[in-house]
Amino acid sequence: MAKAEQDLKSILDGGFNPREFPWYEPDLAEVPQPAKKILESRIPSEEVLDHVKKVRDRAFAVFPYPCIGAFRFLDMSVKQSPLYAEILERLKSGEKLLDVGCAVGQELRQLVFDGVPSDNLYASDLRRDFFDIGYDLFNDHDTLKSNFIMADIFDDNSDLVKKLTNRIDIVNAASFFHLFDWDKQVTIAKRLIGLLQDKPGSLLIGRQVGRVDPPPPEQKHEAGQHYRHDPATWKKLWEQVGEETGTKWEVEAWMEKWAGADSMMKTFHGGLETFKLRFTWTIHINAINGILMVNGITKQSLSIDALDILLGNYRIIGASSHTPHQMRELIEFSQSMVPWEAHMATFDNIAGIQKAIELLENGKTAGRFGIIF
Ligand SMILES: C[S@@+](CC[C@H](N)C(=O)[O-])C[C@H]1O[C@@H](n2cnc3c(N)ncnc32)[C@H](O)[C@@H]1O
Repeated sequence: MAKAEQDLKSILDGGFNPREFPWYEPDLAEVPQPAKKILESRIPSEEVLDHVKKVRDRAFAVFPYPCIGAFRFLDMSVKQSPLYAEILERLKSGEKLLDVGCAVGQELRQLVFDGVPSDNLYASDLRRDFFDIGYDLFNDHDTLKSNFIMADIFDDNSDLVKKLTNRIDIVNAASFFHLFDWDKQVTIAKRLIGLLQDKPGSLLIGRQVGRVDPPPPEQKHEAGQHYRHDPATWKKLWEQVGEETGTKWEVEAWMEKWAGADSMMKTFHGGLETFKLRFTWTIHINAINGILMVNGITKQSLSIDALDILLGNYRIIGASSHTPHQMRELIEFSQSMVPWEAHMATFDNIAGIQKAIELLENGKTAGRFGIIF
């Protein structure tokens, strides 16, 4: 008997009975697509179904989460995102994704299957055992180069914080936020902001169990230990996070029916108050650690609150155009500081002035021009 199966046997012999959990589905008729295709690329197709059931039982014995008992880890979440094409392109060109609360890490395998270099991918979970089980499930110990980091999301000194602060472009959080109450979800949101790069375009995507008419979060007792949102409360949570961190977000959330292998959601919860809440959330403007740029002479004097400087909310950098030969420095300074907002078209010689005037007069642009000579 292989070691993994021996371990499982000893857990079961120790009295763990998965069937005591209502969300444990003893059987699986077939492995849904696209998970099946990914598994068949590494395991003989006639063995896939049995293999998935066996490995699922090992994962369930590590911790009996409904997402494992109900085979929800076969529901590839990132691929269903409306932004999937963009996500693939961004990751293929070197951006980095973190799957937080990854469990067996199926999302990474989907992305790699679709051509993303595995070393652009990170995954993190409280339980290391899930990482090994994931390697066994997908039979890819020898090829997957992704970085798996064991960490408690609430630990300020974890390896996750040490290694990935401000380094990630896209976070996936699937069936994760709903494990916690409102206040802890706020803490997680702030943690993820810290991991994401401090620039517009940084993205959080995910899905979780939602519900119709969630109680107001202020009613702590009704809100409970596992706050389940509808799109309105999800947006409200991010408004709170925005206010508390001085950041702005574009949040989109919508409801879907659960489908796929998860018959618990289809039959047990189907038609009741539960639904799948999917979301995307993009950094819009980030004011944390910003740089206030002062070019030339302002029409009115600027008023600056010393407390903001003290708290590091922004730094001030100034530059003056003075004489023409200093213009190049000024323009390059402008572009390097806020490339996403102060986009500036530049012309490399003085004749560009005429071209810029024509474009402005014809109403073809409202942009900014710099003439470098
Ligand atoms: C319900 S599972 C979801 C797994 C996977 N994202 C999916 O959609 O199939 C939640 C995962 O979060 C992890 N988790 C729970 N509490 C955590 C914490 N405090 N820090 C990090 N991960 C945690 C669990 O170990 C588990 O793997």
